[in-house]
Amino acid sequence: MKVIAFSNQKGGVGKTTSAVNVGAALARQGKRVILIDLDSQGNMTQGLGVENPDFTINGLLFHEQPIHAYPVTKNLVLVAGDGSLSNFDKNAQDKIQREFILKKALESLKLKSDYIILDCPPMLGLVTINAFTFADDIYIPVEAQKYSIEGLAKVFEMVKAVNEINPVLAVKGIFFTRHNHHKILNRDVEEYIRNTYGDTVLKTYIRENVALRESPHANEDIFRYAPDSNGAEDYLNLTQEILTK
Ligand SMILES: Nc1ncnc2c1ncn2[C@@H]1O[C@H](COP(=O)(O)OP(=O)(O)OP(=O)(O)O)[C@@H](O)[C@H]1O
Ligand SMILES: [Mg+2]
Repeated sequence: MKVIAFSNQKGGVGKTTSAVNVGAALARQGKRVILIDLDSQGNMTQGLGVENPDFTINGLLFHEQPIHAYPVTKNLVLVAGDGSLSNFDKNAQDKIQREFILKKALESLKLKSDYIILDCPPMLGLVTINAFTFADDIYIPVEAQKYSIEGLAKVFEMVKAVNEINPVLAVKGIFFTRHNHHKILNRDVEEYIRNTYGDTVLKTYIRENVALRESPHANEDIFRYAPDSNGAEDYLNLTQEILTK
């Protein structure tokens, strides 16, 4: 059983796309997967077709709602999120052990699943600290662009800090998303990241692929929406690589 977090403080790099499609790939291989939407933007929830959920992660954490997972496809369920999660810091303020709120609430799900996949928000705040306190493995999607280097270092700093309360937490993989071989700048940044992070950088590239952008609008993962697309091929390869970690 593993708890995997997709995180990067940089926005729009493919955290949600990766969480959904790696989750879907694992589920297709017979693993029981629970997706958790930890972003108050609710992109994961909306992209899987759950509209205005009555049960949310915020309700579970702060309003005594029971754990409710919405069915997505075979072996795949979703703990939904919405804008109410933006009050996390305020709601957590007077709780003791603020870093453990998520872990305490979701720990029991470990018995019911092979993978719990956390879609983190694009900020390294208290929600992400809670995700890292609960997680075993972190995967970081990066776009090979100028500012991605700084963002990567910040995630590693936070992992180091959270290691004091969660020693097993480790960055198991950095992978390039929205990849395009033709951009010169990309190649320099990619080389720098490979030199700096060595084997932590995965072999799989997620290519820029229009079907990946379209699939959330059809409320589907890439394997249902466009099984023959580059996006489906890349996310299957990424999942295989993650399974070797
Ligand atoms: N490989 C790809 N090719 C084309 N479009 C992509 C790809 N990966 C993600 N996208 C699109 O880019 C946008 C940002 O992706 P996504 O929402 O997964 O990023 P994110 O890191 O979760 O963003 P945020 O930080 O806002 O949570 C979305 O519209 C998504 O559909
Ligand atoms: Mg997202």
